[in-house]
Amino acid sequence: MQVVIDANENVNGTLVLPVWQDTKGLAGASDNGINRILKNQIEAVLSSGDFTGKAGSKMTLAGTEGGKALLIGLGKHGKTTVQDMREAGASVVASRGKIHGNTLTVRFNGMDDADMAAFVEGMILRDYSYDVYKTQKEDDDNDDSDLNVHVSCEVEKADALRASAELSTAVAQGVYLARDLGNAPPNDLYPMAYAEQAIAFAAEYSNVSVKVINYDEALSMGMGGLVGVGMGSARKPCMVIFELNGDKPGPSPCIVGKGITFDTGGISIKPAASMDEMKYDMHGSATTFGVMKALAESGWSERVVAVACMAENMPSSNAQRPGDVIKTYSGKTVEVLNTDAEGRLVLSDGLWYAGTHLNPSYIIDLATLTGACVVALGHEASGLWSNNDELLNNIKEAGEHCGEIAWPMPLFKAFEKEMTDSKIADVRNLGAGRWGGSNTAAAFLKQFIPNKKGTEEQIPWAHLDIAGTAWGAKTNKMVANGATGIHVRTLHHLITGQ
Ligand code: BES
Ligand code: MN
Ligand code: ZN
Repeated sequence: MQVVIDANENVNGTLVLPVWQDTKGLAGASDNGINRILKNQIEAVLSSGDFTGKAGSKMTLAGTEGGKALLIGLGKHGKTTVQDMREAGASVVASRGKIHGNTLTVRFNGMDDADMAAFVEGMILRDYSYDVYKTQKEDDDNDDSDLNVHVSCEVEKADALRASAELSTAVAQGVYLARDLGNAPPNDLYPMAYAEQAIAFAAEYSNVSVKVINYDEALSMGMGGLVGVGMGSARKPCMVIFELNGDKPGPSPCIVGKGITFDTGGISIKPAASMDEMKYDMHGSATTFGVMKALAESGWSERVVAVACMAENMPSSNAQRPGDVIKTYSGKTVEVLNTDAEGRLVLSDGLWYAGTHLNPSYIIDLATLTGACVVALGHEASGLWSNNDELLNNIKEAGEHCGEIAWPMPLFKAFEKEMTDSKIADVRNLGAGRWGGSNTAAAFLKQFIPNKKGTEEQIPWAHLDIAGTAWGAKTNKMVANGATGIHVRTLHHLITGQ
């Protein structure tokens, strides 16, 4: 999508008019460049109440002398949220089929900076489709050629809107990348394929470096969690370490992602129904990569580091078994009671590596970790656990700011106890009963956060379970379907304040 912020002079292509509820007529909006007959039509439907501007409503008009308009209802002025504005913007792109052509002009009137910025952001985020594997382009209704969007507003607001649209465009590059990775089929996106994409990414930006710990290195370093999960697959596991602005001093934010490129469950194999969805089980690592891309694109100049824990969880004669005891990179041993609880195993090594090698100010991991988290929160929010209240609140606020809700969940001592009472090892990878599975998973991860150097206090750490938010448009209006790119924007905002 091309976004150009114009003065109120011309109308290119279809006119898109966001309308507050119960606005009569153009209500002071500039009518510059609007075809006379179309303008009369707009005035007529607005003053008659045929179009009330209710939130979520839309109407298309076609002037007899040419010229088309799409009215977008915003809801009651003063009663809407920033997220409502994003969704209104997204709905414009969702109805591309009604726009006819690739050019449109959004004419804002009487909207404040934040609302306009959000509307434009929603348009940008919704302008995504994954058609890498389509050999034939679809018909006009699904025209996915580039949209040319002209946006006009009051002259004095144009500079701020231009700046926010530029930032949204930059950050969206990271969101699109995360979605591309999430949507990529597991036969093509396996652990080392991700690593190669990361290496190519580093080659594009002079301030990005990428290091890959391959299977043999992981073995000799003693990364028993990553190796145990990945050894059953012919596509061997790896760890990918990203560093942005490595010449700047740390301590720095550190993002860690679960990257299971396909989760069959391993020997504790999953049922067949919907198993295809387990290609998204690497969305934690997709978001991780996406955040780095967003930061690079938006020109962030401080140091940020990230770790992606990549493996394919397959059953085979080389696969780990329920009952195995592995030694993780931290030195702690884990009794593997269920090979389908694999995300926590790869993360145990990634978290320990991050804490001991990368000089983090805090560590945030993202993982499609448990079905139990979806039971708890549905698709409305990611689960959020932390050993540090300030970090937890900052993430919660950043999520709210971005319309990507992260909801606090407990790290009770009882959950830690449950996970550390293995009869034969230090930690078990499965809770004792069937309840609280997302909490016991988080409590497991906490065992692998090192202390701050020379102290008895853990590095600030937070865990986001994105099992319910990483895919599907059920409650995410910013995507049509598939991978959502969840929390790329949350973390970009958390890290940069922008
Ligand atoms: N990747 C799954 C979690 C998942 C389930 C994500 C559904 C998205 C949708 C994870 O590896 C897993 O299998 N978790 C098990 C854990 C259990 C064996 C303790 C689960 O949630 O059932
Ligand atoms: Mn699993
Ligand atoms: Zn998994």
